[in-house]
Amino acid sequence: MAASQTLPRKITLPPLPDKPALRQHGSMSEQITLPATMSAVHIATPGAADALQVTSLPLPEVKPGEVLIRVAAAGVNGPDLAQRRGHYDPPPGASPLPGLEVSGVVVASGEGTTRHRPGARVMALTNGGGYAEYVAVPEGQVLPVPHGWSFAEAASLPETWFTVTQTLVMRAGLAPGMTVLVHGASGGIGGAAIQIASILGARAIGVTSSPEKAAYARSLGAFATVDRSEDVAERVLSLTEGRGVDRVVDVIGGDMAAVNVAASARSGHIVLISTLDGSTAAVPLRQMMAKGITMSGSTLRPQSSETKATIAERIAFSLLLNLSLPDWVKPRISTFPLEDAARAHEQMEARNHIGKLVLLTSFGRDQ
Ligand SMILES: NC(=O)c1ccc[n+]([C@@H]2O[C@H](COP(=O)([O-])OP(=O)(O)OC[C@H]3O[C@@H](n4cnc5c(N)ncnc54)[C@H](OP(=O)(O)O)[C@@H]3O)[C@@H](O)[C@H]2O)c1
Repeated sequence: MAASQTLPRKITLPPLPDKPALRQHGSMSEQITLPATMSAVHIATPGAADALQVTSLPLPEVKPGEVLIRVAAAGVNGPDLAQRRGHYDPPPGASPLPGLEVSGVVVASGEGTTRHRPGARVMALTNGGGYAEYVAVPEGQVLPVPHGWSFAEAASLPETWFTVTQTLVMRAGLAPGMTVLVHGASGGIGGAAIQIASILGARAIGVTSSPEKAAYARSLGAFATVDRSEDVAERVLSLTEGRGVDRVVDVIGGDMAAVNVAASARSGHIVLISTLDGSTAAVPLRQMMAKGITMSGSTLRPQSSETKATIAERIAFSLLLNLSLPDWVKPRISTFPLEDAARAHEQMEARNHIGKLVLLTSFGRDQ
């Protein structure tokens, strides 16, 4: 990317007095001095937002196939809240720290890596550990920062774009001309679904809970919005001339499951990403059968690094270039210092945010 070429090739970070670690990569001009310890946010005891506490930890080990990223910004996602509450444990071998997406600068590359060299501006889907000043990430989960995007903006992308690409695009086969019903349309997943649909020539109907959230969903590309207080299925049928939608992205679950079936067209596919309003539902099975509807569900974090790398390739080849277009509408972001992660969680839980919440490290605040 053009933006990465403006960075100096040698980045010297202030070493801590106790035990600076020097890692060498290629020529002397690529040497980067790293501190021995970093600030990170950990979950002291699972529970309320104040469980998130700042601590000092050694830098993560960089395993073969991984790159070490000096984190500028880390996105906040629904799964971070679930992990903090003790409901979404990290998969075996993953960092116990929260944080599933970051942006920053590559400062070390492990054995066998080929693509992202020290100095590159990147964004990445992590396997955990993003709420920290450094994180090690399998190289296949790392993408370049789109041209013209700040680190804070770029950190808002990976978790939701990987999730929606895997479910709506790769599994449910979203295709040009289709119509997609997007629940939680002003949130992270919802916003990604609207934008990915528009890139792929599909059109989105967003479901939101306020006129301001509806306006935001339309600014991202939704051709129509429905308020949750309305009869969602009836409005969707009227917007689609009685046909229904081809695909549904659902983060709500509960009673919305039956609404989704009623709002779906024949051969529709409902993609279940979360169950914010309830994990059990009464589903009209006969209607599902008659319409030939598929319902699929998925969680991203436990997937293998190979699967995540395959999703990254799909994003890189089909979607990424669009984000560098001059008139691309970036997601709305609200930023917090990394040390205020608890405040960001409280804001997400209060449901009064629009778009994405992003944590900035001291390095990210200087950019
Ligand atoms: N399956 C996966 O791999 C995966 C990956 C990422 C995220 N997720 C999950 O997807 C969900 C959405 O994540 P996100 O990052 O997009 O969160 P978000 O930014 O908070 O968005 C959630 C949206 O859902 C709406 N909503 C409706 N009912 C809600 C309820 N009972 N509680 C909270 N919000 C409600 C909210 O808008 P209104 O207030 O306007 O209704 C909000 O815009 C989370 O549960 C997250 O854990 C799953």
